[in-house]
Amino acid sequence: MAGDSLLEVRDLRKSYAVAPRAIHQAEGDPPAATAEFVGVDGVTFSLAPGETLGIVGESGCGKTTLARMLLRLIEPDSGEMRFRGQDWRGARGADLRALRRRIQMVFQDPIASLNARMRVGAIVGEPLAIHEPGLSRADRHARAAQMLEAVGLGSEALDRFPHEFSGGQRQRIGIARALILRPELVVADEPVSALDVSVGAQIIELLDRLRRELSLTLILISHSLPVVAQLATRVSVMQAGRFVESGAADQVLQSPQHPYTQALIAAVPEIPA
Ligand SMILES: Nc1ncnc2c1ncn2[C@@H]1O[C@H](COP(=O)(O)OP(=O)(O)OP(=O)(O)O)[C@@H](O)[C@H]1O
Ligand SMILES: [Mg+2]
Repeated sequence: MAGDSLLEVRDLRKSYAVAPRAIHQAEGDPPAATAEFVGVDGVTFSLAPGETLGIVGESGCGKTTLARMLLRLIEPDSGEMRFRGQDWRGARGADLRALRRRIQMVFQDPIASLNARMRVGAIVGEPLAIHEPGLSRADRHARAAQMLEAVGLGSEALDRFPHEFSGGQRQRIGIARALILRPELVVADEPVSALDVSVGAQIIELLDRLRRELSLTLILISHSLPVVAQLATRVSVMQAGRFVESGAADQVLQSPQHPYTQALIAAVPEIPA
């Protein structure tokens, strides 16, 4: 595998056991075989530092399953993941902890992903409390305030609770939390699909600005081709657990080769002149 890549993913797979339909089961029947549903079916890609990979595909195609494997929130059935040449999929103990902080996620639902009982300062500072336990409370608070400024929320947000903020502001809090450890790779899974279009556009702009300012590599996941097209330098089109087409964003968007990509592009409404 190439040494200059940030992330190398090879043949990543994840199946889910699907419970047999209990309704067809009569008492005394032998247990029905558990069916297997393939969520991610052999995904391979490599990402260079500074790239923005857009992953686009319809609901249920496996995007979140893939994202959660990339973060090691769920274990793949098989496949390899390397981060800056290190074995990320197999990392354990101190290696795992050291790698974890370098890869962070922005979640789809800014309400569900923030602890409603914690103040914003504690939410944003929590990754620091975990990964830099030696840091004083005051320093943690200062870093959280700085990060909140960077995402366009004043430090007055520190002592408030998530419910006091709008959806877009909550997503800014989620982004501040994801970035406070200065990760190298950020995986944003449907970061704007819960938001109004105009608010979502501001969040996409914010991600792009932070990407440049903090030299991030970004994986932007969305069911929406226009959202992905705004930022992606490379695009992978996902269907039924597989990448059916991957390439430079211009190439995939302007001369799509796969019928599914062509259908996605054809489905984007034109803005009347
Ligand atoms: N924990 C699970 N157990 C069983 N099946 C699951 C589980 N998680 C996901 N799936 C199934 O795997 C498939 C892929 O789900 P996934 O959430 O990865 O799709 P997605 O592309 O993120 O969809 P969406 O656009 O709706 O977020 C779906 O059919 C889903 O029902
Ligand atoms: Mg999803």
